[in-house]
Amino acid sequence: MTESGSKLRIFKILKIIISSLLITVLLLFTIAAIRTLSLDVNAGLQLAHWEKTNNKSLVIDHHQREELLANFKEAIRIPTVSFSNTESNTTALLEFDRFLRKAFPTVFSSSLVHHELVGNYSHLFWVKGSQPELVPYMLLAHIDVVPASESDGWEAPPFSAKEIDGFIYGRGTIDDKNSLMGILQALEYLLLKGYAPRRGFYIGLGHDEEINGLNGAMNIVRVLKQRGVQLLFVMDEGLTISDGIIPGLEGPAALIGLSEKGQAAVKLSVSVAPGHASMPPRETSIGILATAVKRLEDNPMPRLFGYGPEGDTFEHLAHKFSFPLKFIMSNLWLFSPLLSRILERKPVSNAFVRTTTAVTFFNAGVKINVIPSLAEAYVNLRIHSAQSVEEVLDIIKDTVGDQRVKVELVDGFDPLPISGADEKAFGFQIIKKTVLDLFPTVTVAPGICIGNTDSRHFVDLTKNIYRFSPAWFKPGDPERFHGINERISTKNYEEMIVFYFNLIQNCDIRKLPEPHSSVHEL
Ligand SMILES: *[C@@H]1O[C@H](CO)[C@@H](O)[C@H](O)[C@H]1NC(C)=O
Ligand SMILES: *[C@@H]1O[C@H](CO)[C@@H](O)[C@H](O)[C@H]1NC(C)=O
Ligand SMILES: *[C@@H]1O[C@H](CO)[C@@H](O)[C@H](O)[C@H]1NC(C)=O
Ligand SMILES: [Zn+2]
Repeated sequence: MTESGSKLRIFKILKIIISSLLITVLLLFTIAAIRTLSLDVNAGLQLAHWEKTNNKSLVIDHHQREELLANFKEAIRIPTVSFSNTESNTTALLEFDRFLRKAFPTVFSSSLVHHELVGNYSHLFWVKGSQPELVPYMLLAHIDVVPASESDGWEAPPFSAKEIDGFIYGRGTIDDKNSLMGILQALEYLLLKGYAPRRGFYIGLGHDEEINGLNGAMNIVRVLKQRGVQLLFVMDEGLTISDGIIPGLEGPAALIGLSEKGQAAVKLSVSVAPGHASMPPRETSIGILATAVKRLEDNPMPRLFGYGPEGDTFEHLAHKFSFPLKFIMSNLWLFSPLLSRILERKPVSNAFVRTTTAVTFFNAGVKINVIPSLAEAYVNLRIHSAQSVEEVLDIIKDTVGDQRVKVELVDGFDPLPISGADEKAFGFQIIKKTVLDLFPTVTVAPGICIGNTDSRHFVDLTKNIYRFSPAWFKPGDPERFHGINERISTKNYEEMIVFYFNLIQNCDIRKLPEPHSSVHEL
């Protein structure tokens, strides 16, 4: 074959490759465009006919407003702090118990409500339904808060509940006394108006959520299991309504958490023979361990964006993004590799892309002239929905790739199961309807919690756990969570009460309506 002949052939092959690439790109683009244009705009159940159950309505008058704000402020002023894994302010927990009985006299005296203390400081309420065949549900909230100190830069002392420009400041105003007080205040008003639920429900208030719920939530679960209780769904804190927080998203979004990331604490250790610093070996235990830690930081866990509920979030919200984001979000099947690379640049969005690796302890050495025989580091991992503790441990061993570094699992749990969010998912649809009735401009979408809640202990009682409360988060607000200047507007706190007031009644429907086909409606 002559040289020019082979050139011609290469040229022909190239032409074929380029044109087939072009055709493929064109085809993908067409499919993507069709998907973008045919976005489902929340039709279905929203247009369906719901059985009417919201027979009581709540219009908050001047007197009620004063009363409910006074109750809420008093709750914030009781410093129910969990100081450490073993230490809580039990004086404050006892005071909180007395306070609840005083603030909600109807809840504590109604013949429909059975109340008991669990684990000394946690509360379990059972509100009897008139139709025992309807499967009960459960609302959760927690009493304890993380520590707070005024000297960290609070505008008002953290246990003062001071009101500034329409906001109540204080530890617990968004985590989680707003849900706790909102639920009980709503129940107090419902009972005062003569409401008797058809569907029975439980309310669980844990006293040690911030330190893993081992005495509170876990004992509540134990009690319910002994009684053979199964729950239709559980609703706990977690995600909120975010407004102006997700870049490119137009309008507010209520994300309902379908799952939580898992966790693992892993210990890395290196043991060598001790020696004198005057005759050091080429590598010390510190050097070996430092190299291992560096390898973990240089080699993050694989990108898994789109393999967990976070993919659903963006697909649900796609129609609310501006172009070209709308186009990208509605075609994650094509763009998720590209999107992952954008999201991983910031720590806050990287958390949705993968299992994160954080080295949190590094201990070695006792004396300036002694080569330490032992070096230890602890790694805290937050596990993506598409991985397990075991898989993550294997990857760590591979990445470290050094037999001298011992890798041990200290403790951990897999990511939580993913709750239903389709048209048959009772809890999800009830929460969604209640949000949309109260806030018609909000888009509701499934989400994932990167932190953990008490509800993770409830997996044996139900398949459907939802993490949501209707607190509004605007730019700057997520940092208040466990941070300084935690606050809620008085308006938003009232909305929370109305939300739970309506939610409880909405749960009285016997079954979800048949969805209208969105195709016919459009
Ligand atoms: C609400 O009122 C309707 C009649 O308007 C009645 O059929 C329904 O049973 C009531 N719902 C509840 C939960 O009491
Ligand atoms: C514990 O709570 C009580 C109020 O119930 C409070 O007086 C006390 O200062 C708190 N203790 C600590 C160490 O914060
Ligand atoms: C509850 O209080 C009793 C008596 O003070 C104590 O023995 C028990 O350990 C406490 N239980 C919890 C869960 O704190
Ligand atoms: Zn919380």
